[in-house]
Amino acid sequence: MTVSTNTSFAVDRDNLHEYTVLEREPISAENLAEGEVLLAVDRFSFTANNITYAALGDAFRYWDFFPLERPWGQIPVWGFADVAASRHPEITEGDRIYGYLPMARQLRVQPGRLNRSGFTDMAEHRHGLSGIYNQYVFTAHDPAYRRDQEAFQMLLRPLLVTSFLLDDFLAREHCFGAEQVILTSASSKTALGLAFMLNHQRGQRGQPKVLTALTSPGNVEFLRGLGYYDRVVAYDDLETLDANEPSVSVDFAGNGQVLARLHEHFGDRLMFSSLVGASHWDQRGGGKGLPGPKPELFFAPKYWEQAAGEYGTSALMQRFAALWAPLVASMQQWMSIREVRGTDAVAQAYLDTLEGRVSPDQGLILTLSD
Ligand SMILES: NC(=O)c1ccc[n+]([C@@H]2O[C@H](COP(=O)([O-])OP(=O)(O)OC[C@H]3O[C@@H](n4cnc5c(N)ncnc54)[C@H](OP(=O)(O)O)[C@@H]3O)[C@@H](O)[C@H]2O)c1
Repeated sequence: MTVSTNTSFAVDRDNLHEYTVLEREPISAENLAEGEVLLAVDRFSFTANNITYAALGDAFRYWDFFPLERPWGQIPVWGFADVAASRHPEITEGDRIYGYLPMARQLRVQPGRLNRSGFTDMAEHRHGLSGIYNQYVFTAHDPAYRRDQEAFQMLLRPLLVTSFLLDDFLAREHCFGAEQVILTSASSKTALGLAFMLNHQRGQRGQPKVLTALTSPGNVEFLRGLGYYDRVVAYDDLETLDANEPSVSVDFAGNGQVLARLHEHFGDRLMFSSLVGASHWDQRGGGKGLPGPKPELFFAPKYWEQAAGEYGTSALMQRFAALWAPLVASMQQWMSIREVRGTDAVAQAYLDTLEGRVSPDQGLILTLSD
């Protein structure tokens, strides 16, 4: 298998509206050192989560996974790649792999900690970065893998793991004694995943009585139609919520103004304030000095490590697997996959996502080759 081009879609780290398509020297089998493997990136998903990787790229070191010279940066994505060439004795050309990839046609990796399921990229520049992002899975040995479900896997698995971990966190804390959980950017896939799980287990483990969605006016009807939430309220109408109802906020929007209004409205009736996302990446604001509890950052890879240490990795994975099937079955009923091919179309899909023009019932799957 050969990939004759090394095209890369790069964005200006200081101005995300600027992008370029770089044609770099292709990597060939002859360029590989002993033990290295060349991956041909095939398809990947693209959501607000990827924009957040870019918006927080310096603070959370997302640019360091697939480095380019400044000002350019390659946004990490979740997707599938094939082994195009291998100088590793146990990895074979043609093996299909799932994992964290650059928006590029090629990726050179140095597989280590190899087992039947997968490997870790031991490349020096990835040392010290969050370990979960350095792991690659062989699809041939992934019991959950199905070729015809690849789109849903790459779109939803990284996001719904976070929903699952948030659900676990809230259950362990008995939802901080709140009656209501309020989710901002409630139309995001990660928020919808959490809403589904909270609903699925309602009545158990101290789950809240009411799930409230905060969203943009244009997404209100869509969320009402889905039925994942008890209440759906536009951001502008936030103050119509009962300020005396003990509530927890789970913030996927990261919008400084919305968060401040939530804290001001509920004050001490806000029992906990979790910062999860920044889908409103250009309206971020400090969470400092707000009334009520101090907002706390929830970082899924860190929580996964803690939870795996406590329950054991396989127990945690089994619990996730049990929720995965009903969740995906539900989401498949309303989400349509949009496949996008070629650098021009990818650039347009990138800008649409950056500027919030992708409808929440769409899942984008991108391919750089024509
Ligand atoms: N902390 C963690 O470990 C972790 C893990 C996974 C995901 N996350 C975060 O969760 C957030 C949601 O990610 P996702 O991939 O699930 O999102 P998604 O499905 O792509 O979300 C789409 C929704 O986000 C809002 N949105 C997206 N782009 C926008 C823009 N430019 N301007 C205004 N609103 C915009 C809109 O919702 P509304 O109209 O409802 O606001 C839109 O319907 C991201 O910030 C992601 O990084 C965090």
